[in-house]
Amino acid sequence: MAATDGHDTGAASIPCVTLNTGHAMPVLGFGTGSSRAPEDLPATIVHAVRLGYRHFDTASFYGTERVLGAAVADAVRSGAVASRADLFVTSKLWIADAHPDRVLPALRESLDRLGLDYLDLFLVHWPVAAGENKKLVPFDMEGVWRAMEECHRLGLARSIGVSNFSAVKMSKLLAFAAVPPAVNQVETNVGWRQEKVREVCAKNGVVVTAFSPLGAHGSAWGSNAVMESGVLRDVAARRGKTVAQVALRWLHEQGVCFVARSFNKERLKQNMEIFDWELSEDDKEMIAQIPQRRACHGEFFVSPDGPYKSLEELWDGEI
Ligand SMILES: NC(=O)c1ccc[n+]([C@@H]2O[C@H](COP(=O)([O-])OP(=O)(O)OC[C@H]3O[C@@H](n4cnc5c(N)ncnc54)[C@H](OP(=O)(O)O)[C@@H]3O)[C@@H](O)[C@H]2O)c1
Repeated sequence: MAATDGHDTGAASIPCVTLNTGHAMPVLGFGTGSSRAPEDLPATIVHAVRLGYRHFDTASFYGTERVLGAAVADAVRSGAVASRADLFVTSKLWIADAHPDRVLPALRESLDRLGLDYLDLFLVHWPVAAGENKKLVPFDMEGVWRAMEECHRLGLARSIGVSNFSAVKMSKLLAFAAVPPAVNQVETNVGWRQEKVREVCAKNGVVVTAFSPLGAHGSAWGSNAVMESGVLRDVAARRGKTVAQVALRWLHEQGVCFVARSFNKERLKQNMEIFDWELSEDDKEMIAQIPQRRACHGEFFVSPDGPYKSLEELWDGEI
């Protein structure tokens, strides 16, 4: 797996990882996926850029592409960054567009909403496809990936990847991909370590990016396993850090990138302050004891008459 190499894209203190396309991705991204995006999100994004955030995560499904695009334009106009090239923007292909002939048009629509000429990273959001009337239909992994490869060849997506792919699905994809995925974005945190996915990705030079690095606490499907972990609380007290900082530092030391969501200026700053200290071996041993449980099950994508009839099938038993 490409290792964190400390290469600096200009962000104040966020290191980058080099993707298999040769492009640098800041290891910490600003997540814009939320059921409650605040009205002042554009100003918060510009503030984040001023703090040193360079990597922004959106998706057509989140409804935040326009807001992010406007904030990117603002950040450039106001001189917070010299140009759009200083930023790393990820968006994702929604399941309604996960059909070979819909991939390129959907990317163009995302670019249009963002007001950008290219994405830094375009991800297949789920290994799931929906047809007419939102009915779940079989996901044509190879056809969709060939269309993703075309997006890459056209220069509209500098890197391409997937999200919510199990280790089994990663292996299937890697077996036929002409352009291998650069990233698999999956739920990863101290309470769901994703060891199988990380192993197959590490062997194949695919970067794992964690979503819900803090357990998505406070959201309808999130969990308190991270933010209310007694183990993390003890480690945080010993290190003089916050629970969130320990959770993010653990991911960084595992070689996992992460997109964290905070719309709070203080917490945005706090989440960046994890790159100049280390966890001890004792800390990591204690963290390794935290019970494991997936929070984001994707139960909406399972149905008795759909292609995935159980969560076991959706996750290939990795639940
Ligand atoms: N690919 C996918 O299928 C997928 C799925 C889910 C999410 N994502 C992406 O991943 C991003 C992050 O994941 P997430 O939004 O699920 O959850 P998360 O980042 O694990 O947690 C977000 C919650 O943590 C709070 N928080 C942030 N920093 C904190 C700190 N230092 N101390 C205490 N609380 C803190 C936030 O509240 P405040 O705003 O009040 O700070 C918010 O309630 C999303 O925004 C989205 O971009 C992708």
